[in-house]
Amino acid sequence: MTTAHPTIPGDRAPAVNRSGNGFQMHRPGAANPAPPRGSAADPSASRDAAADRLADDALLDLSTDIAGKDVEDTLARLDAELIGLANVKRRVREIAALLLIDRARQRFGLQATRPTMHMSFTGGPGTGKTTVALRMAEMLHSLGYIRKPKVHTVTRDDLVGQFIGHTAPKTKEALAKAAGGVLFIDEAYYLFRPENERDYGQEVIEILLQEMENERTSLVVIFAGYPDRMDTFFSANPGLSSRVAHHIEFPDYTHDELLAIAELMVAQENFHFDDAATRAFSEYLELRMTRPRFANARSVRNALDRCRLRQAKRLVELHRPLSRTDLITLTDNDVYGSSVFASPVEVPAT
Ligand SMILES: Nc1ncnc2c1ncn2[C@@H]1O[C@H](COP(=O)(O)OP(=O)(O)O)[C@@H](O)[C@H]1O
Ligand SMILES: [Mg+2]
Repeated sequence: MTTAHPTIPGDRAPAVNRSGNGFQMHRPGAANPAPPRGSAADPSASRDAAADRLADDALLDLSTDIAGKDVEDTLARLDAELIGLANVKRRVREIAALLLIDRARQRFGLQATRPTMHMSFTGGPGTGKTTVALRMAEMLHSLGYIRKPKVHTVTRDDLVGQFIGHTAPKTKEALAKAAGGVLFIDEAYYLFRPENERDYGQEVIEILLQEMENERTSLVVIFAGYPDRMDTFFSANPGLSSRVAHHIEFPDYTHDELLAIAELMVAQENFHFDDAATRAFSEYLELRMTRPRFANARSVRNALDRCRLRQAKRLVELHRPLSRTDLITLTDNDVYGSSVFASPVEVPAT
């Protein structure tokens, strides 16, 4: 029986010994394979596991929770790989803090229900929803909330069957694939077609609701899509809405943010914009942002792919030995080749 552990800075709390992969099993539904209910190894009993329990007058240094280190790494990665999104990053930190404190409370044997972690990510295309979902899964996994740091992404077609009796097995298959991780439902509102009252999407929603209400499953559902349609979807499905604890908004990026995103992506790929190319890309963005099917950071990535194509063609046609500088430099010519400059009416591919 463990007694009080006065905190020594840098001391590791005995209850959170790291296993080989850094995963700590202490959550209901967090074990695989599940031991029989009520057995000594039953993780559902571990919320009040006496062996881990700190004395009431103990002090718990949060920095001794090794999950905290992994969480900091994930948050640092999120900061480094995503420009802007201050609000999103703040919300992710809040969720991390909530779960860290929940873990600390468990160490003192304080009973509480497992916090709900189903979420909605609303925003336009290319605003970082999928990327943040991946980091969120890593973070929830580090904190022992889910069993695997994986996101299974689905859309309506993966869940809804064509014929009567096909929908439930399809949805259950998707749930099985996502089990223990995150189920990311992109453009979730397509599940709901009020104009067709016999639409099978309703069946999916009912199965999802059951799954989301099941305290013992270790599955987090994230609904993603455009803000306005998502609002309609949630108002029409209050049951779902009430199970979604965290609504996170992903705003469209400003011109300056898009330019910073471009420079980050260029650097990540070991390229470099010369000064003229930076100015050209800034002009490109101004035009591109007003065109149809503009998809924020995704459009930036696609535009850069096409810049690289033009650069390659340009370099091959030089018919001379190439330097390292040649190979990494994107010039304004590589940008101005875009159809956005050539024809104001033509719709470029996103
Ligand atoms: N803030 C950002 N900073 C840097 N890159 C970003 C940012 N937001 C999105 N991206 C990049 O843009 C692309 C599209 O992002 P994604 O997460 O798929 O958006 P969504 O799921 O909202 O459509 C990805 O390559 C992603 O890395
Ligand atoms: Mg996406």
